[in-house]
Amino acid sequence: GMHVYTNRPEISSAVAKHKENGLKIGFVPTMGALHRGHASLFNFALKNCDVVVVSIFVNPTQFNNPQDLETYPRDLQKDLEFLESINPELLVFAPSTTTIYGNNVKALDFDFEGLNQVMEGAFRPGHFEGVATVLKYLFEIVNPDMAFFGEKDYQQLQIINKLVEIEKLSVKIIGCPISRHEDGLAESSRNTRLTIKQREASPFIYKTLMQAKEHFNDQSVEDVVHFVEQEFADKEQLELEYFEIAHAATLAHTTEKNPDEKYRAFIAVFAGEVRLIDNIALN
Ligand code: PAJ
Repeated sequence: GMHVYTNRPEISSAVAKHKENGLKIGFVPTMGALHRGHASLFNFALKNCDVVVVSIFVNPTQFNNPQDLETYPRDLQKDLEFLESINPELLVFAPSTTTIYGNNVKALDFDFEGLNQVMEGAFRPGHFEGVATVLKYLFEIVNPDMAFFGEKDYQQLQIINKLVEIEKLSVKIIGCPISRHEDGLAESSRNTRLTIKQREASPFIYKTLMQAKEHFNDQSVEDVVHFVEQEFADKEQLELEYFEIAHAATLAHTTEKNPDEKYRAFIAVFAGEVRLIDNIALN
């Protein structure tokens, strides 16, 4: 089987040795329950770097909902088999909570200039502070040249760019496209928690995003928002939490369309207890 690094000095010195040999280090942080969405990031990293570190750590400080933390799928053995099947040369770092946080399992404070106040930040208070804290610690330990993140969590990607700017980190952040099931549902570790009925209903999320993109060509922002809310109004299995159109770079909410600006649509939907998110470039 694969070797699993669990403590700081071991993984740090393994990486340091590779760096001394002039190798470029890629890093893909995950919370495990690995799927093809993660695999697309590993493959991006393997293409762009000489050595790739994958971390598996269910980060407690980013869960605003204790129930969600408790039910988050964990299966290290299965994840290791998956990683080995992709590339047995991957370096796996699976630390304990104490290794990352010591006895202080707490998020740090950051000034994200409003990026953390909208959408996921508004509906999941403290979430992005938790994400940024664990990444700050992981970047210190792994010290990668490049780190790879999915556009699935587009707001997270922007938060990480801001973190790198605030903390003046030298890591280069690379955003990777959203990987989807054949029926359009974005791959997610949470999908395994869907009932058969919920799973059958959930491709509606991406289908509606694509329709919103169509409408965005010739309708106002207000009309597109109204369209999406109507689509979900009487939808069985799925409950819309938010749909928002925002500037792609700042994530600032918009009500107007400026032809020189890039916009993106963001959605969060509950299928029972399971919270699903997705997003799409509109222009
Ligand atoms: P996790 O949800 O495990 O996701 C790890 C990485 O995989 C993230 O960059 C995420 O955007 C990406 N990813 C997940 N599903 C994807 C999909 N369908 N297509 C493309 N990329 C996808 O995101 C986290 O973990 C955590 O917040 C973490 C960054 C590890 C910090 O704890």
